[in-house]
Amino acid sequence: MTDYSLLARQLDALLDTRDALTNSAQACAFIMQQVPDLNWVGFYLHREPQVLSLGPFQGQPACHPIPFGKGVCGAAARTRETQRVEDVHAIADHIACDAASRSELVIPIMANDRLWGILDLDSPSAGRFDADDQAGMEALVRVFVERSDLD
Ligand code: SME
Repeated sequence: MTDYSLLARQLDALLDTRDALTNSAQACAFIMQQVPDLNWVGFYLHREPQVLSLGPFQGQPACHPIPFGKGVCGAAARTRETQRVEDVHAIADHIACDAASRSELVIPIMANDRLWGILDLDSPSAGRFDADDQAGMEALVRVFVERSDLD
């Protein structure tokens, strides 16, 4: 089982600048290295209305842009609620960037009540993410928000 409280302390120590670009690059590299059974981890940024732009990531080249009306990432941006999908094949709206992806966890990143972006995690295993993974990853996102200047 992944020790998310240890990962949160390690991520807190790793993010030693306030720069959001640097911290988002470091955060997704750290998660990819530390969390097993992932094939894609990355940020999409909310830089123009109703659209997500691809940010720093680890994994295969990915879909860009993603409108708020589409996919699991769009649903997270629209609802501002974490989306946990056990089997992406069962979701008609899923955007398949990497055919290997079977399950997905998408966490909205809020800064001062504004949607700054989302963190997207894909796994090649169906049902990879449970409630503990969701809570643990949400805690890692809180560390990223606290350590970064998000405009
Ligand atoms: N599967 C996502 C698109 C992003 S990729 O997984 C990197 C979605 O349905 O929104």
